[in-house]
Amino acid sequence: MTYYYKLGEIPPKRHIQFRQPDGSLYQEELVSSKGFSGIYSNLYHIYPPTRVEKVLESVPYGVKPLKDRPLLQTHLKTSQIGTTGEDYLEARKMLMINNDVHIGICNPSGKQMDYYYKNGEADELIYVHDGSGWLYSQFGKLRFQKGDYIVIPRTTIYKMAFDEGEVRLLVCEIFSPIETPRRYRNELGQLLEHSPFCERDIHPPSELITEREQGEYLVKIKKNGFLHHYVYKHSPFDLVGWDGFLYPYTFSIYDFEPITGRIHQPPPVHQTFQAHNLVVCSFVPRLFDYHPLAIPAPYNHSNIDSDEVLFYAEGEFMSRKGIDRGSFTLHPGGLPHGPHPGMIEKSIGKKETHEYAVMIDTFRPLYITEEALPYVDENYPMSWKE
Ligand SMILES: [Fe+2]
Repeated sequence: MTYYYKLGEIPPKRHIQFRQPDGSLYQEELVSSKGFSGIYSNLYHIYPPTRVEKVLESVPYGVKPLKDRPLLQTHLKTSQIGTTGEDYLEARKMLMINNDVHIGICNPSGKQMDYYYKNGEADELIYVHDGSGWLYSQFGKLRFQKGDYIVIPRTTIYKMAFDEGEVRLLVCEIFSPIETPRRYRNELGQLLEHSPFCERDIHPPSELITEREQGEYLVKIKKNGFLHHYVYKHSPFDLVGWDGFLYPYTFSIYDFEPITGRIHQPPPVHQTFQAHNLVVCSFVPRLFDYHPLAIPAPYNHSNIDSDEVLFYAEGEFMSRKGIDRGSFTLHPGGLPHGPHPGMIEKSIGKKETHEYAVMIDTFRPLYITEEALPYVDENYPMSWKE
């Protein structure tokens, strides 16, 4: 859930005549979620968004889950991976998937895209682990940098332009709307006083892009395991204005205000986003629990409803040994998980942590993919032995 925002020129009411300088009508497009019951935006195009010039061949684009793998605590050693491809879409390696979410990495070496991209089936949540740049979309220019979550609603047509330097992205395709946690919003959608962030931390696009020129514009659309190739004569960034609640935005993990307590606080205090059958949490530097007998490390935990993915972003993670920056753990439901030997005692008396991590808890089982197999740490399931 975001807030009302507008860029460029819009008519005083919805669905009325809004004319171009030559007297022709601008083309209105309503982009709405949950049918007509969710958030939406109204977009005003120079050209009809429906005017397709050519449809080229669709190319398979998807991953398969490894469903016959035994139940195992999993550590994916993805910290040492360099670039995963030149092109933004080719560089995406999805590692853990189910019907609600695909989780992976994308470390592209290329800095520009010579095509446009639209995810036709999933909202995208991109955590910028390293790198910076611009997300260009119909909604305008959106700056992103290290530590940002970029939330991109499905069907947003966009292009990434990365600055010089290494780019490492955590990519989640989420097959339901990505929202702020319900309990942090009042009945009208405003973030409440006890929310760990507020509207000031949510950054919409800053400037509209209006491209009037005609030419050949390729849009790659991801849907149903394929990339579909659509060619238009006009740029998809042909808007003169838009308004509404639906647009891409950034939220920086550095703006998440941690909630702490006298004794160990459970993961929901770190919750940042919700979607159907999953939550996303941000672990950030914070003061540890201050009860005189507090144990800062988490207790052993058996979550009977969820699989837990942790992406270790920065710093030493207090409960783990042998996990490096940029790797993942997957602790599946059905097995308890907890601190490595010695880590509970070691945590006692510590005053603060400098860790950053992104956690994705899914309420349906996750499966690793073939792409993930080369990174599986075979020793991890036994790593709790003394
Ligand atoms: Fe847990």
